[in-house]
Amino acid sequence: AMVEKGEYRHFMEKEIHEQPDSVQHTLSEYLDLVTGAAKTNAVDFAAVERIQIVACGTAFYAGQIGRYAFEKLAGLPCDVEIASEFRYRSPAVSKSTLAVAVSQSGETADTLASLTWCKAQGLKTAAVVNVHSSSMAREAEVLWPTHAGPEIGVASTKAFTAQVAALLALAVAAGVARGRIDAATEAELVKALFESPRLIAEALRMDGSIRAVTQDLAKADDVLFLGRGAMFPLAMEGALKLKEISYIHAEGYAAGELKHGPIALIDEATPTIALAPLDEVFEKTASNLQEVAARGGPVIMIAPEKAPDPHGAGIRRVHAPDCHPLIAPLVYAVPVQLLAYYTAVQKGTDVDQPRNLAKSVTVE
Ligand code: G6P
Repeated sequence: AMVEKGEYRHFMEKEIHEQPDSVQHTLSEYLDLVTGAAKTNAVDFAAVERIQIVACGTAFYAGQIGRYAFEKLAGLPCDVEIASEFRYRSPAVSKSTLAVAVSQSGETADTLASLTWCKAQGLKTAAVVNVHSSSMAREAEVLWPTHAGPEIGVASTKAFTAQVAALLALAVAAGVARGRIDAATEAELVKALFESPRLIAEALRMDGSIRAVTQDLAKADDVLFLGRGAMFPLAMEGALKLKEISYIHAEGYAAGELKHGPIALIDEATPTIALAPLDEVFEKTASNLQEVAARGGPVIMIAPEKAPDPHGAGIRRVHAPDCHPLIAPLVYAVPVQLLAYYTAVQKGTDVDQPRNLAKSVTVE
């Protein structure tokens, strides 16, 4: 069936707004609403010693978010690599490694080649894919579907959050299978995951406050995104989204790495966007923002309203829903996407078909 934009101006805008549903559908594949259990979905995580994720673009950042969860919740060592590097560098892999391809289309040439190579090495393989009839879905032993539905906008949004939702739920299942998560913690984490569609819907109401911020953003030549923990890969995703559709140069950095280079770029014309949920590293991120503000850099801090105010002139706040740290990458993905979207709309670019980009890169 033809997919239509309906009331929306662009497919990207429509797809951003579909995320409460697409995340809900995806989670229902991995979590049992009745029992409150995380399902292992055809993989015996107790027998896996290592996970190797391969992906490109936005899917690579989803994989990195997954890595934080697999290591923290399941004590499972996890590597994540860009497929175009992985496939040509003769990586050293051990047999008890589970190779996981993450891809919206299931057709990206480098990711598919990496998956095929891992399979030929005798590794167990799985694919987190949105197109369930794709080459990767057929090639992998285990299919871990996302249920984002067809994604038309070239810049990925709902496929990304679906990938993140699937990986977070699988990490909980892995933690249970490996004896790292007890029944009470499993119930807490599953409950948090099931709350994410509602909190994503709440984040969509940040619309107006994000739009207000993009008036300044659209004038910038360079933008810095900062985050710690799972907010670091999300910061890189935010920078990628902004580059892709608004053509503004942006970089995503680990907030703690700021003083090792990017702080040299800070001036009045270079905005910094900070992704700062109230988690165990909030204070660390806040002190990095003070460093930016002290050097005259405009700071936009995306954080819950109840988060303390970092001292320092020039720190502008945008309130995000308060949420369990596990689901912060899902909730904060929304303001990150809206920032890129409204900036691009202001600049008048072709949001759904950005110059030089393809939806799926099936040739090298
Ligand atoms: C292209 C798209 C991106 C996407 C990447 C990987 O670059 O423009 O949005 O993240 O390919 O695609 P995949 O289908 O493998 O997720």
